[in-house]
Amino acid sequence: MVSKSLDHIFLVSFPAQGHVNPLLRLGKLLASKGLLVTFSTTEATGKQMRKASDITDEATPLGDGFIRFEFFEDGWDEDEPRRQLDPDQYLLQLELVGKQAIPRMIMKNAEQGRPVSCLINNPFIPWVTDVAESLGLPSAMLWVQSCSCFAAYYHYYHGTVPFPDKEHPDIDVQLPCMPLLKYDEVPSFLHPATSYPFLTKAILGQYKNLDKPISILMETFEELESELIKHMSEIFPIKTVGPLFRNPRAPKTTVHGDLLKADDCIEWLDTKPPSSVVYVSFGSVVSLKQDQWNEIAYGLLNSGVSFLLVMKPRHKDAGHDLVVLPDGFLEKAGYNCKLVRWSPQEEVLAHPSVACFVTHCGWNSSMEALTSGIPVVAFPQWGDQVTNAKYLVDIFKVGVRLCRGEAENELITRDEIEKCLLEATVGPKVLEMKQNALKWKKAAEAAVAEGGSSDRNVQSFVDAVKRISI
Ligand code: UDX
Repeated sequence: MVSKSLDHIFLVSFPAQGHVNPLLRLGKLLASKGLLVTFSTTEATGKQMRKASDITDEATPLGDGFIRFEFFEDGWDEDEPRRQLDPDQYLLQLELVGKQAIPRMIMKNAEQGRPVSCLINNPFIPWVTDVAESLGLPSAMLWVQSCSCFAAYYHYYHGTVPFPDKEHPDIDVQLPCMPLLKYDEVPSFLHPATSYPFLTKAILGQYKNLDKPISILMETFEELESELIKHMSEIFPIKTVGPLFRNPRAPKTTVHGDLLKADDCIEWLDTKPPSSVVYVSFGSVVSLKQDQWNEIAYGLLNSGVSFLLVMKPRHKDAGHDLVVLPDGFLEKAGYNCKLVRWSPQEEVLAHPSVACFVTHCGWNSSMEALTSGIPVVAFPQWGDQVTNAKYLVDIFKVGVRLCRGEAENELITRDEIEKCLLEATVGPKVLEMKQNALKWKKAAEAAVAEGGSSDRNVQSFVDAVKRISI
């Protein structure tokens, strides 16, 4: 039974895996610190979460508090294929329905004795801040990417330095407290030739009302991007709270944010020698073409490594071609290969058999690899992934680079893939990369441990919410 005296935080997530995971992780952490947390996103995403995780209609006790879920309709027919929608139109529609649904949910909670003290949203839905303001409530934002990308978008939005444009598409960009970014290391949504202009608009939209949130919580930690975080904190009320998935205070629970049920692969990993398996996964939204999958498959096969390969099933409405592995591939790979549709990635990266991670460098995957002490083979495609790849390889020094992403847009051959796999598993740089990765793992553990930088920031945010709601 939820105590009526608990402060109540209402989280609103953009309906995508890379957004749901960090916001729900934050929610679980806040609940463990004695708050009532409601996690909310669209009904369609909620349905997927219910299928893949132990989400019930009851509030779940977590540490000293509780977490519960409420979903809202996104305004599209159940049978309408969402992925084929014009993305601009979808974002507009989400704003229209969300601006009505969320105040209704918040008022109903108040009527039922659970008044809300604060709203927290993640990127692409900046209007949640306006909803909070119209209800007289404070709000915060969880930025789900690195501080470096936050800074890059900020400088672009305010035009403080020249970025690549149509006349000068190849210029490098120097931003305060950051390494020089080559044109193809700048988040690709800011590049004039990006294939995703609607995402550029959505991400920059966040900067319109960034003066409203009481805190900008960030899924990074001070020790990782220290100088830049200090610099950006002079402009914004930033609190670094990551890595959220590593936090030892968030109680172990089967409530999680997967939108697909993970296949078992841990038993297979258990049979493999320490540091012998390459884990290959490209997150939830990257979609590679058939010819690229063929090259990846033969690159893996020719390298002779054991590998755990995630091939996400394509939704029938996704608008992408179905991709398959080459004929006879699985037979040739034999017991060297474990193929799954979705993996329990946190557990996989913590498994002693895993040697390295071939990743698209989404920020969640980047943080999870880095803070699990696992070197990476960087295979970025677009958006922040190209910047994350730059940091993983050149700044954090935990990986090798396989490609450069959207700007390059070339087929990466099986020979290049094989070469990188060997470099990351048996090459002369392996020991150094592993040592660096373990260094970041230790730093992350210290940040989330009692009294660490992220722990202090989470506590001071909780204290601020409690003070405001008195
Ligand atoms: C998207 C963007 O692509 C990314 O660039 C941005 O930083 C965040 O939003 P996504 O592509 O889903 O994210 O990648 P990522 O950020 O890595 O998040 C994927 C999440 O799904 C991770 O938390 C990962 O642990 C989880 N995952 C992925 C699984 O649990 N199992 C899998 O098989 C694959």
